[in-house]
Amino acid sequence: MNKNVSTPPESMKSVSMEELNIRIINIKKHLDKRLLILGHHYQTDDVIRHADERGDSFALAKIASQTDAEYIVFCGVHFMAETADIITSANQKVFIPDVTAGCFLADCARSDDVEDAWEEIRSAGSFRTIPITYVNSSAELKAFCGKNGGLVCTSSNAGAAIDWAFERGQKVFFFPDQHLGRNTAFNMGIPLNEMILWDPEEPLGGNSIEAIRNARVILWDGFCIVHLEFNAEYVNILRKQDPSVNVIVHPECNFEVAQTADYMGSTAYIIKMIEQSPAGSHWAVATEKNLVNRLKKQHPDKRIEILQSFEPYCKSMAQITVLNLAHQLEQLSQGNLVNQVIVDKKYRKEALTALNRMLELKI
Ligand code: 13P
Ligand code: SF4
Repeated sequence: MNKNVSTPPESMKSVSMEELNIRIINIKKHLDKRLLILGHHYQTDDVIRHADERGDSFALAKIASQTDAEYIVFCGVHFMAETADIITSANQKVFIPDVTAGCFLADCARSDDVEDAWEEIRSAGSFRTIPITYVNSSAELKAFCGKNGGLVCTSSNAGAAIDWAFERGQKVFFFPDQHLGRNTAFNMGIPLNEMILWDPEEPLGGNSIEAIRNARVILWDGFCIVHLEFNAEYVNILRKQDPSVNVIVHPECNFEVAQTADYMGSTAYIIKMIEQSPAGSHWAVATEKNLVNRLKKQHPDKRIEILQSFEPYCKSMAQITVLNLAHQLEQLSQGNLVNQVIVDKKYRKEALTALNRMLELKI
């Protein structure tokens, strides 16, 4: 854990929202080009209005790789800030207003478990396996992929990453999100019986040697709790009510939901599809509530709803608040570099290799 952790003092907790917003705006003016605030689409409206750039994981990683800003404040979750730190140069610094904003999915794969699985897979036969880590993972796992001839992917380039891997090997070892891996590979024509699930609690991941030898895709048993709230029965109910409804889902949803959907893609893809649709169209969206509610407000001429009877939300993303963003910026403007995200030197080079392979994919 970063020793430089800082949370808003008690005295700041009674400051009004209006005043916090003014402070943020003034500090942004003062730091000007030295500061870049990045915001993921799942941030609340209150926070994202302060972002200089907003995007999905891929867009934000790309922007981080291209900016000259000295301070990058990441309104998102920890793995996104780690990625930005790996991808920026040594004189740039990345901060997150709450260093404890993690990601349930990223925590599904511990590096030791992945290393053990890798050894077991390799000892099952003489095939070449390419590891792919979803960007929602630790820097250590990104480095593991860089070291072992693999790469990072996001929800917007997972298909291209799997193609890249099959140009170089016979098998793909995909972690931590089984659903992104399965949904993407299936849409590329790989049947389910050529994919196996790897349970890290079981010897050989719960598979026979034969099954490992025959599999083309080995999926880690990880998932996002937010996206598993969506279910296919709800889609059927909606379609009965309105056969013209467009169902659009994030690929972290389960296979049944993905199969019943009309469209599937990253948060940026979801936004683009809805923006480009004609007035009056009806959309049911399976992703985090802050994004869906924002789309609803931005497109009053369209009928947009979440694909569930309640509103699944990511509590990690919600840990970034106007209060801790204001505190972060105040500290930076006073020269206190608190809540800096610094990836361990021993992972940087290989993690960067895996990230660069992703950035070079032709999509
Ligand atoms: P996107 O890259 O599609 O924005 O997804 C990130 C994420 O964490 C979804 O749960
Ligand atoms: Fe992680 Fe799921 Fe939250 Fe995305 S929505 S940041 S995958 S926990």
